[in-house]
Amino acid sequence: MLCSRSKRVFVLVCILSSFLLVATATSITEEEEGVEEWGTSVKGRFLAEENELNSSLILAAKRTKRKDPDENFKLYTGGWNISNTHYWTSVAYTAAPFITIALIWFVFFGICTFFICVCYCCCSRRSYGYSRIAYALSLILLILFTIAAIVGCVFLYTGQGKFHASTSDTLDYVVRQANFTSESLRNVSDYLNAAKKVDVQSIVLPSDVLSSIDDIQGKINSSATTLSTKTMENQDKIQDVLDNMRLALIIIAAVMLFLAFIGFLLSIFGVQCLVYTLVILGWILVTGTFVLCGVFLVLHNVVGDTCVAMDQWVQNPTAHTALDDILPCVDNATARETLTRTKLVTYQLANLLDSAINNMANRNFPPQARPLYYNQSGPLMPKLCNPFNADLSDHQCQPGDVHLSNATDMWKSFTCQVGASGICSTQGRLTPKLYTQMAAALNVSYGLNKYGPFLADLQGCDFVRSTFTDIERDHCPGLKRYTKWIYAGLVVVSTAVMLSLVFWIIYARERRHRVYTKDYNAMHPEASRDKAP
Ligand SMILES: *[C@@H]1O[C@H](CO)[C@@H](O)[C@H](O)[C@H]1NC(C)=O
Ligand SMILES: *[C@@H]1O[C@H](CO)[C@@H](O)[C@H](O)[C@H]1NC(C)=O
Ligand SMILES: *[C@@H]1O[C@H](CO)[C@@H](O)[C@H](O)[C@H]1NC(C)=O
Ligand SMILES: *[C@@H]1O[C@H](CO)[C@@H](O)[C@H](O)[C@H]1NC(C)=O
Ligand SMILES: *[C@@H]1O[C@H](CO)[C@@H](O)[C@H](O)[C@H]1NC(C)=O
Ligand SMILES: *[C@@H]1O[C@H](CO)[C@@H](O)[C@H](O)[C@H]1NC(C)=O
Ligand SMILES: *[C@@H]1O[C@H](CO)[C@@H](O)[C@H](O)[C@H]1NC(C)=O
Ligand SMILES: *[C@@H]1O[C@H](CO)[C@@H](O)[C@H](O)[C@H]1NC(C)=O
Ligand SMILES: *[C@@H]1O[C@H](CO)[C@@H](O)[C@H](O)[C@H]1NC(C)=O
Repeated sequence: MLCSRSKRVFVLVCILSSFLLVATATSITEEEEGVEEWGTSVKGRFLAEENELNSSLILAAKRTKRKDPDENFKLYTGGWNISNTHYWTSVAYTAAPFITIALIWFVFFGICTFFICVCYCCCSRRSYGYSRIAYALSLILLILFTIAAIVGCVFLYTGQGKFHASTSDTLDYVVRQANFTSESLRNVSDYLNAAKKVDVQSIVLPSDVLSSIDDIQGKINSSATTLSTKTMENQDKIQDVLDNMRLALIIIAAVMLFLAFIGFLLSIFGVQCLVYTLVILGWILVTGTFVLCGVFLVLHNVVGDTCVAMDQWVQNPTAHTALDDILPCVDNATARETLTRTKLVTYQLANLLDSAINNMANRNFPPQARPLYYNQSGPLMPKLCNPFNADLSDHQCQPGDVHLSNATDMWKSFTCQVGASGICSTQGRLTPKLYTQMAAALNVSYGLNKYGPFLADLQGCDFVRSTFTDIERDHCPGLKRYTKWIYAGLVVVSTAVMLSLVFWIIYARERRHRVYTKDYNAMHPEASRDKAP
């Protein structure tokens, strides 16, 4: 009798504590949501304040104010800073509630099961109180929690699919941007190679310029190589992690679904022995999924922090932030200087080529005017359109002028064939040698004009800023939403399976009592008549 009562007490305590755990889990989820909304609502105000002082900006300051277990649980105030270990400890600490739940569950349910087992083994089976209401209630709740577990599994499965697609998209985008950058750098390097060969009528670039080109080219080459190899390496690694994560989540969803379903069936059919085996298995699995909830909550927080940090970094170009320690951005003035220089060189080269056309190729010299005379004849070459004016403002091309990008092809039709003396023997305005020289100079001018803005953007991190803006706009909402889906799915699955476990035991017990009572009544019909209301 005593044993029976103590069993009831244990079961009651188990149910109560389970509900407590669920309540806590739900409240954590809601709290996290609240923090996020609060974070976005203060963002505008916070940025307005920060824009006035350009000194140093703490990225995602409000969002990242979390307790830091490494610093006696004081609030961490360093903001988003991945080189700071305190950022990581404080964000990892957000998983603490789930880890605590996992621990409590592990210990508490272990003790509960142990006592129930002990009671089951040592107590005699007699005088069970069987109540129709308790039986029906436990059956209904068991069905409800099993359905909840199935819904949770479906949710988790959908969430991981969307999360995987979203992360793969983001990764692809970043890799494409890196590919574009390294390809552009390679192209710049190629144009610099052409610049080394510039030699119009035996005028070559001075040797110090040539060596500085080599210098720059070396840097550009190594940056391009590092960028592309690092990108490929990391892409493979990250894709691997993502694929494994997907597999793990699918397996977890499937196992939990299987567990909930099989446990339900076994419990309904009263296969006690197997139910208890499943309870032990579920006990460990639920602990594991609660820990995973924590892990995904941390991931969700880090993604959210990073998105806010990128946004604030983009909006505050002058402030010094933790991202500047990672990204080698130069200030705007230096980047502008690069742009101005490339424009100037483009302008000068185009000018040089234009004057060569006007003053040499398009003029008909007498044979004694060599080297200007090379028997040029035929229709006049069109003017080359200089993309800039002398003050480096943009210049509109006149109709009939050839564009920088078209000039090489256009000029080819004005080359003549040369005889042994090196002068044109057929109609034309350029000798092949002259054409090659001018095309090389043109190539440099064209390349600088095309890639100058890119280089300046790269130096000033405008390119990174626009990439971040795109990520913030197109990829962040999905990433934030689906990490949340996953951890919410895990919470639902863990809680539902946790409660199912409890009700497997309770239902199995009620069922046993029912069967026992029926048997007892069958054997002692007069007792049953006495008991009947
Ligand atoms: C803003 O930045 C500029 C250049 O970095 C600096 O000269 C100026 O003192 C800064 N202003 C404030 C208020 O920190
Ligand atoms: C990036 O470039 C590499 C080769 O350089 C190529 O294999 C890869 O498919 C490219 N990735 C994207 C996303 O364009
Ligand atoms: C680099 O140059 C090649 C050929 O010159 C061109 O096809 C490619 O589009 C260029 N890449 C970039 C990023 O400008
Ligand atoms: C111009 O430079 C590009 C890139 O290096 C090269 O592919 C092209 O052949 C060059 N054209 C001429 C006419 O030198
Ligand atoms: C840079 O790479 C190009 C080919 O992409 C090569 O021709 C050139 O010699 C390299 N320059 C340096 C300085 O490494
Ligand atoms: C980021 O953290 C590192 C390491 O603690 C620190 O040296 C650096 O100053 C921090 N950066 C910012 C912007 O706070
Ligand atoms: C930096 O330069 C770009 C143009 O190159 C300009 O749009 C931007 O406003 C500049 N930023 C600052 C802070 O001066
Ligand atoms: C280049 O020439 C083609 C015809 O030869 C013309 O259709 C095209 O518009 C030209 N491109 C530029 C940028 O002028
Ligand atoms: C000069 O070019 C014309 C064709 O325009 C050709 O008939 C003539 O023979 C050339 N003169 C010499 C000296 O090669």
